[in-house]
Amino acid sequence: MTVDFFAHAALPAPQVRPEEAARIAALLGVPGQAEELGSQQDANFLLRAEDGSVLGVLKIANPAFGAAEIEAQDEAAERIAAACPELRVGTVLRAEDGSPRAAVVDTVSGPVTARMLRHLPGGTLTGSRHLSPRTVAAIGRTAGRVSATLREFRHPGLDRVLQWDPRHADRVVALLLPHIQDPAQRAAVATAAAGAWRALDEQREQLPCQAVHMDLTDDNLVVAEGGPVPTPDGVIDFGDLSTSWAVGELAVPLSSLLHHDGIEPHDVLPAVLAFHAERPLLPVEARALWPLVVLRAATLVVCGRQQAAIDGESNGYVHAALEREWRIFEQATSVPTEVMTALLLDGLGLALPRKAVVPAAPLLADLAPAELAVLDLSVDADAMDRGAWLDAEVEDRIARQHLAAGAAGVLAPYGQARLSRSRVLSAASPATVPTGADLWPARDAVLRAPWDGRVVRVEPGRIVLDCAELTLRLQADRAEVLVGEDATVDAGDRLAILPAGVRARVTLQRGGTSEAPDFVRPEYAPGRLALTADPAPLFGLPAHEEPADATLLARRAASFASVQGHYYDQPPRIERGWRHHLVSDQGRAYLDIVNNVSAIGHAHPAVERAVTRQLRRLNTNSRFHYASVVDFSERLAALLPAPLDTVFLVNSGSEAVDLGIRLAVGATGRPDVVALREAYHGWTYASDAVSTSLQDNPNALATRPVWVHTVDSPNSYRGRHRGAEAHRYAPEAVRAVDELAAAGRAPGAFVAESYYGNAGGVALPDGYLEQLYAAVRRHGGLAVADEVQVGYGRLGHWFWGFEQQGVVPDIVCVAKAMGNGHPLGAVITSKGVADRYRDQGYFFSSTGGSPVSSVVGSTVLDVLRDEDLQGNAVRVGARLKAGLAALGEHHPLVGAVHGSGLYLGLELVRDRTTLEPATEETAELCERMLGLGVVVQPTGDHLNVLKIKPPLCIDAEATDFFTATLDRALRELGH
Ligand SMILES: Cc1ncc(COP(=O)(O)O)c(C=O)c1O
Repeated sequence: MTVDFFAHAALPAPQVRPEEAARIAALLGVPGQAEELGSQQDANFLLRAEDGSVLGVLKIANPAFGAAEIEAQDEAAERIAAACPELRVGTVLRAEDGSPRAAVVDTVSGPVTARMLRHLPGGTLTGSRHLSPRTVAAIGRTAGRVSATLREFRHPGLDRVLQWDPRHADRVVALLLPHIQDPAQRAAVATAAAGAWRALDEQREQLPCQAVHMDLTDDNLVVAEGGPVPTPDGVIDFGDLSTSWAVGELAVPLSSLLHHDGIEPHDVLPAVLAFHAERPLLPVEARALWPLVVLRAATLVVCGRQQAAIDGESNGYVHAALEREWRIFEQATSVPTEVMTALLLDGLGLALPRKAVVPAAPLLADLAPAELAVLDLSVDADAMDRGAWLDAEVEDRIARQHLAAGAAGVLAPYGQARLSRSRVLSAASPATVPTGADLWPARDAVLRAPWDGRVVRVEPGRIVLDCAELTLRLQADRAEVLVGEDATVDAGDRLAILPAGVRARVTLQRGGTSEAPDFVRPEYAPGRLALTADPAPLFGLPAHEEPADATLLARRAASFASVQGHYYDQPPRIERGWRHHLVSDQGRAYLDIVNNVSAIGHAHPAVERAVTRQLRRLNTNSRFHYASVVDFSERLAALLPAPLDTVFLVNSGSEAVDLGIRLAVGATGRPDVVALREAYHGWTYASDAVSTSLQDNPNALATRPVWVHTVDSPNSYRGRHRGAEAHRYAPEAVRAVDELAAAGRAPGAFVAESYYGNAGGVALPDGYLEQLYAAVRRHGGLAVADEVQVGYGRLGHWFWGFEQQGVVPDIVCVAKAMGNGHPLGAVITSKGVADRYRDQGYFFSSTGGSPVSSVVGSTVLDVLRDEDLQGNAVRVGARLKAGLAALGEHHPLVGAVHGSGLYLGLELVRDRTTLEPATEETAELCERMLGLGVVVQPTGDHLNVLKIKPPLCIDAEATDFFTATLDRALRELGH
C-alpha cells in the first residue's frame, strides 16, 4: 500500500507532543529531550542529550505513508551517502546490530512509523537571504548529484501518488484552487498553471522518469557548518521520494530560489548549468523546465493554502510559508514561460540556430539598401563619446544628423545593446536590447507588406500583420495607415505612409508568442530575441550577427599568465568609461568606486583633446628639447616643499619606487632598505623586493632579498598595537633601525606609503614618520615616500600623504593619478640626492616625460585645479564617510571606516571584539554590489576592506547611491 493523494485529498501532519516524541525516541534506543521542528506533513523533533548535544532527528511519518515507502526513502538516502561522499545525508540511524532505529508506534493520529535520522548540523538554506551565483550553482550541482545517483534506483515504495509530483500538477491545482481566498490570486494561479501545463503538451510523453527526491528546497539543503557564506553540502528529508519526471528534481530547487532577496528568474541559470554538468538535460527536459517551475509554484501556493486551512493556526511552519510561496509564484511568472525556456535553451547551448527571414517583397519599395545609413548606438560607437549617451534625445539627434548629411533613411539595428538606453546609478540593468529595428525616412515613405498576410490590429500609428509564422508590428507617430483591421493583404501591398523624419519601429515576432517589449534587459535578451527576428532583411540588409565575445575571457586566459588576474569570476566586459561610470558592452553603467588612477574621471575631454593634439604634432623622448616636459616638471616640483626640486619622469608607480630606492642607495652608498610589512610598492625587482603584502605574494616574507628589512605594519585598527596604543609602533621600528645600524647595516632608505593605502586607507599613527625619518637620517639614510596611491589630492585635506604626518621626505614617488590612466610616474627629490646618482647608475626612459606624457600630466593638474577636485574630495568624501559610518549602526559586519577624503576603507569583521576578518563575506558582498551596479573591490592582507577610491569627480548623488546600495546588499546578505 502506498499513498495516493487523490484518495486522501489532505494529509494532516500527525499530532505528537514533545513529551510523547521523547518517549518514542527512548523506545528507539535514543533517550533525550525532544524539540519540535517544522514539517508540512510529518512530525519532526530534534533529540538532545542532557548536556545539550544533538542525538538525531525523530521523524514520525504521516500515517498515510506505508512501510515500503519509508524503506525506499532510507535506502535512497544511503545510496546517495555512499555515492556522493562530498554530501552529508540525513540517513537513518542504526543500532549496534545494524538494524535501523525505526518502529511503528501508536499515536492519537493512529499507528505511524517513527525513526531516528542523522542530524546534520549547520542549518539549512531556509530564509530569504540573497544567494550568490556560486551558492546557486552549488544548489544545482547538489540536485544533479542526487538525480544522477537515483537514476537506476528501483523500489516498490517509489510508486506513489503525491501532490508534489508534477505529473499530477494540473489535477492538484484544479482540486485545491478553491483554497485561495483572493479571487485575483486564484485567477492568476489558474491561468499560469493552465498555460504551463499546455506548454508541456509536446514534452509530457517524452520526459524520462526515475526516482526523485522531489523536495530539494532550501529547507532541505543543509549548509556547511560555520561557513560564513552558505554553501549546501547536505541533503535531508526524503519524505517525498517518488518516481516522477527526472527534470522535476531541478525544477524544485529552482522555484525555491525565487523567494530569496534580489533573486529573479535569470539568476537561476548557474544552478541549471551546474545540474546539467552532473546530469545532462535532454532538450525535451530543458524545454519542460520552466513550465515545471511555474507548476511547482502554483502547486506550492494551493497546497500551502490548503494545509493552512487544515492545520489552522497550530502549524506555524505552514503559515510562515504562505508569503514565501506567493513570492515564488510571482517571480516564476514575472517573465513569460516561453522567454525563460528560450533563455535556458540558449544558456545550455541547446537552442537551434536562428535563421534570417526572407521577405517576398521589400518593406520600403522606394528605398535602396545602399541609401540607408545604419546607426551604431552600441558602447563602441564614436557617436556616444563625451557622455553623449546620457542625452535622452541622442538617438533622434544622430539619426537627424545622418538625414541632414544626405541619407535617404536611417536604420537603428535590432538586437544590438544600445548605450543610448543606459541609465547611471541603477540597481537593475536597464533594458538596452531592442527587439525590433527603428527607421527614420528622409522623405515620406510607403511601407508595404513583406509577405501575404492578414491585418489583425490597426490603432493610431500602429499596424499588426500576421504573416504565416511571423507577426509584423509597425509603429510610428503620425503614420497614415492605409489598411483596415481584418484586411487580407498580398506581399507588396501598401500598408502605411510614414512621415519624413519620424521614427518608425518595425518588430518581427514568431507567431503565437507574447508581445515583445520594445527593449529588453540584456540578461533576458537571448530568450526574447529567440522569439523575434531581425527585420533588417526587410530593408535588404543582412541580419544582425551575434558577436562571438563569449570566448573573449577564454582568449584572455590563453594569452595571459595566471598571475595576471581579473576582477570577478564572470566579469562584465567594460568597454567605456565616463566620469565615475564604467560601461559594459551590454550598455550597463556601473558606478566606479575603485579607479583611483582615473582621478579626474574616465575619458576626460581635456585629456583627450590635449593628447590627440600632441600626437598629431610630436611624440619623442626627453633627450630632445621641447617645452611640455619642462613645463610639467616645473609644475610638479612646485607642488613639493623645499628642497624637493628635481624631477625624474617615468611610466609607472613601480618604476617610480624602483628609481626612488636606487636613488637612495646610490646617494648613501648603503644597500640595505627598511620597509613596512603588508605594503605593496610595485612589481619591478626593487619595488617588489620591498613589497610584503600577502595578497600580492603569499610567500613574500619568506622570499625577501637580504638587503630588505621589514618592520611591523603600523595598523592602529587590527595590528599588534591598537587605538591609543598605536604610538608604540614608531619606537619599536626605530629600535629595529638602530639595531641594523649597530650591526653595521645602517639602511640607505626607509620606504613607506605616507598614508597606509594597502591596509585600506588607515592613517599612520601620529608622529610615526617623524620618528622613523629621524632615525633613518641619523644613521645616514634617506626617507622615501610612496605617494603612488594616496598623493595628488585624493586625501582631501592634504595634497600629499606626508603632509598629514608633518614631515618632508627626501624622495617622493608619484604615479597613478598624475596620468589619469596614461602611463606616467615621477620621482621628485633634491638636486643633491639626484646628482649623486650619476656615480651609481644610468637614467634614460624612452617614454618617460615624452611630449604626450608631459601634456597629459599638465592637463591633469589643470583639471584638478579648475574643477577643484581636491575640494570635492573633502566635501563629498566627508559625506560618504559619515554615510558609511552610519551603516555600522545597522550592520554588525561593519568594523570600521578608515581614511580621508576620497581614500576610504570599509573594514568588515565577523566580530567587533576579535576583529576576525570577514573575508568570504567581503567577496560575496563585492559580487552582489556588481549585480546592483557598483564596482567595488577588497584590499588588505585579509581582503576584508572595501577600497573606496573613486574618480575624484564623483558627486554626492553617486556616493549616496553607493551607500544605499551597500546598505541594501548587506541587508540582503543577512549582515
Ligand atoms: C602604493 C603603491 N605603490 C606602487 C604601486 C605600483 O604602481 P604601478 O602599478 O603604476 O606600477 C602601486 C600600485 O598599485 C601602489 O599601490
